[in-house]
Amino acid sequence: MSILIKNGHIVTAAENFIGDVYIEADQIAAIGKNLSYQADQVIDATGKLIFPGGIDPHVHLDMPFMGTSSSDDYSTGTLAALHGGTTMVIDFILQTQGDTLHNALHTWQGKSAGKAYGDYSYHMAVTDFNENTRQEVIQMIHEEGITSFKTFMAYKGALMIDDGQMVDLMQTVRDNGGLVTVHATNGDMIDKLIAKHRAEGKLSPLYHYLSQPEITESEASARFSDMTFYTDCPGYIVHMTCEGALNAVREATKRNQRVFVETCIQYLILDASLYEKDFDGAKWVMSPPLREKKDQASLWAGINQGLVNVVGTDHCPFMWEQKLMGKDDFSKIPNGHPAIEHRMELLYSEGVDKGKISLNKFVEVSSTNAAKIFGMYPKKGTLAIGSDADIVIFDPNKKHTLSVDTHHMNVDYSAYEGWEVTGKTETVILRGKVAIDKGEVHIEKGYGQFVKRGATSVTA
Ligand code: URP
Ligand code: ZN
Ligand code: ZN
Repeated sequence: MSILIKNGHIVTAAENFIGDVYIEADQIAAIGKNLSYQADQVIDATGKLIFPGGIDPHVHLDMPFMGTSSSDDYSTGTLAALHGGTTMVIDFILQTQGDTLHNALHTWQGKSAGKAYGDYSYHMAVTDFNENTRQEVIQMIHEEGITSFKTFMAYKGALMIDDGQMVDLMQTVRDNGGLVTVHATNGDMIDKLIAKHRAEGKLSPLYHYLSQPEITESEASARFSDMTFYTDCPGYIVHMTCEGALNAVREATKRNQRVFVETCIQYLILDASLYEKDFDGAKWVMSPPLREKKDQASLWAGINQGLVNVVGTDHCPFMWEQKLMGKDDFSKIPNGHPAIEHRMELLYSEGVDKGKISLNKFVEVSSTNAAKIFGMYPKKGTLAIGSDADIVIFDPNKKHTLSVDTHHMNVDYSAYEGWEVTGKTETVILRGKVAIDKGEVHIEKGYGQFVKRGATSVTA
């Protein structure tokens, strides 16, 4: 099977020109002007953007969490992602404390095998580090192609590891060519504030926000950065929300050290005023919480300064019925919100169309940097000869409105209901096959493949 895409506006993290892309089987075979290959299918992309399929390195599919499970599984979640131009996701395997990494891996392989539409990989969350885990970490990197290890500095009793375990893990990961990622908030400070608010009868979603002030995130981000400096291990802070945390990383650059930073689309465009809507605010109960307008400005600036490398989603959807588990107590509201489908379009609309970031920056933070940081570049994350033909054809002028009535995520409300977006994903090609065309699905469940990864190919 071959496809020739003609006359599109080709965008990568570095380039920007009108041209053609020729695909043979599952890879890009040629890129240039006026290509004259005879192809099985020709797509006229005049007036459209052509860019690499999005990579969302922060999603939670079918994940047991806070007494329930996230409502998108590998099938609904990766299909919704494809509808929005994201061709690959990296999900999180959670080690059960007291159990092995291999048992957790087998559980997640059972959730994903034969079910995914889009491509996927796993980060391994280490929630219990000991001598056995150390050996397993080495095996994950060299045998399974799982090279990134997630840690939690919060969620004590379920997911959190202490600083001693963190340093031990970092030393092992560094010696074996991997990367440590982190949920960087101070769990003990947050738990104290939660207990205080509950004791005072302050139980609405607003108190979720007030239990996680900015200092809890900036303190942990600084501590994590110091530990990566001490161990010389590559580090990556997930879902960064605020100016204080970004400044902690900025501080690390003064000693010529850098930590990779991910923010998520919601932190760039939503703010904490949503928690003032009584229980409706539960739709945006996530950790860390939404912040202030000044934090949005810092994060957009951080993207342009190259301090924020990736925009993900932390997609962790729950049905309204599940959110109601916390109707009388904010601490029982399952944390997370749905966004896997909307990341690319919202980032284009709010970022590129409104003049906050360039087209090249858009590609860099929505795809290329994730591929480089997580060890799969240039197979993924760019348009180049020999790369996987993961391609989005995007109408930059088409306006549409986000709604629960039209989204494909398995969740019965939208966190972006009524949001007007400029720019729409029109056609999505995954490994040389048209997967989505004008809203229609052309691949089968199970087409999505697990992607083995290598070492980070960039320094932060
Ligand atoms: O609220 C969130 N972020 N839920 C998912 C788990 C996590 O901390 O990333
Ligand atoms: Zn987290
Ligand atoms: Zn997360």
